[in-house]
Amino acid sequence: MLSLIATALLALPSALASPVQLPFHSTASPSSTRLVPVALGVMSKCPDAMLCENVWDRVLETRVGGAGGVLVPGGGGGGAGGGKEGDVPRGEVSEFVSMELVYIGRENKTATHGVTCMHGDSECVGNMQQLCAAKHWTPADAASRHEGEDDELRAQLRGKQGWEDWWNFVQCMNYGDRSRIGSESAAKECARVAKRDWNESVASCVAGKEGRHLLLSSVRRAHKLGATKSCTVLIEDKPVCVHDGTWKECPAGHEVGDFVREVKESWVKLNVGGKAEEMGV
Ligand SMILES: *[C@@H]1O[C@H](CO)[C@@H](O)[C@H](O)[C@H]1NC(C)=O
Ligand SMILES: *[C@@H]1O[C@H](CO)[C@@H](O)[C@H](O)[C@H]1NC(C)=O
Repeated sequence: MLSLIATALLALPSALASPVQLPFHSTASPSSTRLVPVALGVMSKCPDAMLCENVWDRVLETRVGGAGGVLVPGGGGGGAGGGKEGDVPRGEVSEFVSMELVYIGRENKTATHGVTCMHGDSECVGNMQQLCAAKHWTPADAASRHEGEDDELRAQLRGKQGWEDWWNFVQCMNYGDRSRIGSESAAKECARVAKRDWNESVASCVAGKEGRHLLLSSVRRAHKLGATKSCTVLIEDKPVCVHDGTWKECPAGHEVGDFVREVKESWVKLNVGGKAEEMGV
């Protein structure tokens, strides 16, 4: 995905120039519709999490859609949620989803960071670095970094880069020796790679109450979602697949193409299926 930032900049103008017509939409951009919530239940130092994040990096850069975007509502007897290739506008999967990482750990009042992390306290720090980056690197900041570029392009970036910068940060942290996760020097280096500053706001988030609070909320959220194993893939808040040593509990498959298909089906259900039903089609 890192290399794609550059190509995305090149690709955007042409995407803007060729709006896709969907019968139940007036908007052409997948990111201006309801995004598919995708969450990965992870632990920052867990090899399964790294594998999962790597697979999802490939899912996110997969191009989908096109074929004129012609949709036959309820076609094929499947009702809402058929999810064929022609049902989604042309774009990268990254434009159709909102990504979230939720961290698996055990609440523990006596632990250094309020949580026991399976791979030690440095993993808790790694989790907090990622959470603080996600919180502090807001989309508005991303847009301001592209000042001078035209408004439409900036609007697109604003929509996307809310999560893409920290996602790239996580990919960078995963690259190389696992022991560097949780170290501040690696975080600084990866912030630079993601074209962000590891400035005082984010550093003090990690070191202070804010990071601790974010970690605790995330651990509670993972628990509530039923993500007990790293890595658990959740689409629309439902576990759809687990990698724990090996792939398991993945009824709809675990290949890149399977996740792409699941996202497309979910997007159609969220954006087209419901509307088709409302209109009595
Ligand atoms: C809670 O944290 C303390 C300090 O790290 C540790 O000794 C203890 O085993 C932890 N308890 C649980 C239930 O993980
Ligand atoms: C740190 O950077 C963020 C943008 O990424 C900005 O909003 C914030 O004000 C900066 N904080 C400091 C202390 O420089």
